[in-house]
Amino acid sequence: MGPPDMADPLTDAALAWLHIFAVVGWMGTGMFIVMVMGPLMPSLSPQTRGELIIRLFPRIMRYIAVFATLTGVVGIILAFSKTGGNLSLLSPNNIWGLRVTVGASLAVIAYVIAMTIVMPTTRKIVGLVQQMQQNPQQGPSPQIPVLQKRMRIASTTALALMALSLIFMVAASRLPPV
Ligand code: HEM
Repeated sequence: MGPPDMADPLTDAALAWLHIFAVVGWMGTGMFIVMVMGPLMPSLSPQTRGELIIRLFPRIMRYIAVFATLTGVVGIILAFSKTGGNLSLLSPNNIWGLRVTVGASLAVIAYVIAMTIVMPTTRKIVGLVQQMQQNPQQGPSPQIPVLQKRMRIASTTALALMALSLIFMVAASRLPPV
């Protein structure tokens, strides 16, 4: 079975736009972190790096939390709208339901990784860098490289899961049933 089309086309298009807009905010920021900011960090001077961490990290994390949550909420509304509220159409025994469910499940894992590993680790790094700037005589904390590695691995994993989720989402909306 292909995508069910219970919704008014304009409502459907508006929800798809909002869903994609939110995903761009979430995944785009993830790509910026993993592909641009991460590789850039080691080449910066310690002062610039410290300032960037304190000023940029909290902003980026807030941004991700808002867009990731919006993606899921609008995704669920989109699923309600597409199926006319008949959520049994999401069951994995039809190919559309399977594609949406697998895509959404991968997105949920990425969300959990972002909220329970990336966010708290980033908060700890920001706290340690602030402490270091207040007491410069203490020297750099040995915990920071460990936390940075954890953040790198967790954000790369979350991004990979989102790229996979995207395949299933586009398959659900575009590919004919097989
Ligand atoms: C809890 C999370 C999510 C839920 C419940 C959800 C749900 C849905 C539903 C029901 C559709 C409509 C499928 C169709 O038109 O037949 C859809 C489309 C789509 N989703 Fe998601 N989604 C979620 C997360 C994501 C994520 C993480 C991404 C990207 C990485 C994504 C990208 C897309 C795209 C690109 C479309 C196609 C829109 C179109 O062409 O009309 N979604 N999603």
